Amino acid sequence: GVSKKILVIPGDGIGQEVTAWGKKVLETIAANFNHTFTFDEGIMGHVAIEATGDPLPAETLDKARASDAILFGAIGHAKYDNDPTAKVRPEQGLLKIRKELGLYANLRPIKLFDDLLQASSIKPEILQGADILFFRELTGDVYFGEKQRSEDRATASDLMIYHKYEVERIARKAFEAARTRRKKLCSVDKANVLEASRLWREVVQEIAKEYPDVETEHMFIDNAAMQLIKDPKRFDVVVTGNLFGDILTDEASQIAGSMGMLASASVGDRVGFYEPIHGSAHDIAGKGIANPLASILSAALLLDISFGLKDESQRVIRAVDATLRQGYRTMDIANKHTANDMLLGTDAMGAQVLKNLN
Ligand code: NAD
Ligand code: IPM
Ligand code: MN
Repeated sequence: GVSKKILVIPGDGIGQEVTAWGKKVLETIAANFNHTFTFDEGIMGHVAIEATGDPLPAETLDKARASDAILFGAIGHAKYDNDPTAKVRPEQGLLKIRKELGLYANLRPIKLFDDLLQASSIKPEILQGADILFFRELTGDVYFGEKQRSEDRATASDLMIYHKYEVERIARKAFEAARTRRKKLCSVDKANVLEASRLWREVVQEIAKEYPDVETEHMFIDNAAMQLIKDPKRFDVVVTGNLFGDILTDEASQIAGSMGMLASASVGDRVGFYEPIHGSAHDIAGKGIANPLASILSAALLLDISFGLKDESQRVIRAVDATLRQGYRTMDIANKHTANDMLLGTDAMGAQVLKNLN
C-alpha cells in the first residue's frame, strides 16, 4: 500500500459534522486496502479567529504545505454575515489558503445518482443523464482584485481582473478533461459587457485551436444560468471565472438534488484540496441533520486525483450509491413525491456508507 499524510480542516458549523465522515471513510479505505494514511488536524475560519485572532494561522498553512492532500469542511459564522463592517472574517482564511497553495482550478462534478431522480425540484425527464464537470477558476477575478472604500465610506469597489496566463492554465485543464469525456466545452463569460471577459474569451478561443477535437462554445453567464435548468444535458465540461463559477455551481447543485451532494477538488501547483461546495449552513448547524455525502464524495475525489487510487475512489462512490439505493436519505435529499425514504441524520447516514464500504 501507499503511505500518505492527510491534513483535515473541519472549519465551522456543519463543516465539523460532515468532515468527520469524510475522514472516517478515508480511514476505512486505508484499513481495507492496506494503505497508511496519517492524519493531522488544522484550524481555519471562525474557530481559528476565536483561538488565535487569525482565520488562517501560520501553523495551519505550514501543515497544509507539509501534507499530501487536504480534506476541508466549511467556514463561516452568522456573526460576520450580519456584520459587513467586520475586518477579520472566516472567508479570508479560505481565500488565503487557496491563493497560498496555488489552487487555481476548482473541479466541481455534477453527477446525479440514479436514486435521486425524484429528490430534485427539476422534472426527472429533464435531469436524467445530466453529467457536467465545472472548472471554476479559483485564484483570480473580482475575488482577488483590489478592494477600495472611499474615505467617507459611501463608495466601494472590487476590481475584476484576469491575466492571460490565468485563463490559459484553467482553459488547458478544462480542454484536457473534455478530451476524456464527451468532447464538448462551454466557456461562460460576460464578454458583451466586461473587458476581463473579453480577454477570457480571446484566450479560450486561442487555446481551443490546440483542441480541434473538442467542440467549443461560448456562452454569456445570464444565458448559461438559464440553459442549465432548461436543459442540463446539453453541457459536458464548463469552464468559467471565479465569481460566475461560484454562482453557477450552487445553481447546478439542484441537478444533483442538493448542495449536500456536491464535492469539489481544488488543484494547481502542488497539493490538492478537497471540499464540499456548501458552506457552514447556520440554519442546520448543530442539529445533526446535515448531509455528509458531499464530504464523503470529496474524500473519493482526493483518493483519485491526489493519490491516483482509482479503485479505492470507485469503492467510495459505489458505497454512496448503494446507500441511496437502500433508500437512506438525509432531509435535503428526501423524495419530494413519495414518503418511502428512510430519513437519517448525519451520523447514521455516514455509518451506513461505512457499512457499505466493508
Ligand atoms: P450554505 O452552503 O452554508 O447553505 C445554503 C443552504 O444549503 C442552506 O439552506 C443549508 O442548510 C443547505 N445545505 C448546505 N449544505 C448542506 C448539507 N450538507 N446538507 C443539507 N443541507 C445543506 O450557504 P449560506 O447559507 O449562504 O452560507 C452560510 C455560511 O457559509 C456563510 O458564512 C458563508 O460565507 C459560508 N460559506 C462557506 C463556504 C465554504 O466554506 N466553502 C461555502 C459557502 C458558504
Ligand atoms: C465556496 C464559497 C466561498 C467562495 C466563500 C465562502 C469565500 O462560497 O467555496 O464556494 O465564494 O469561493
Ligand atoms: Mn460558493
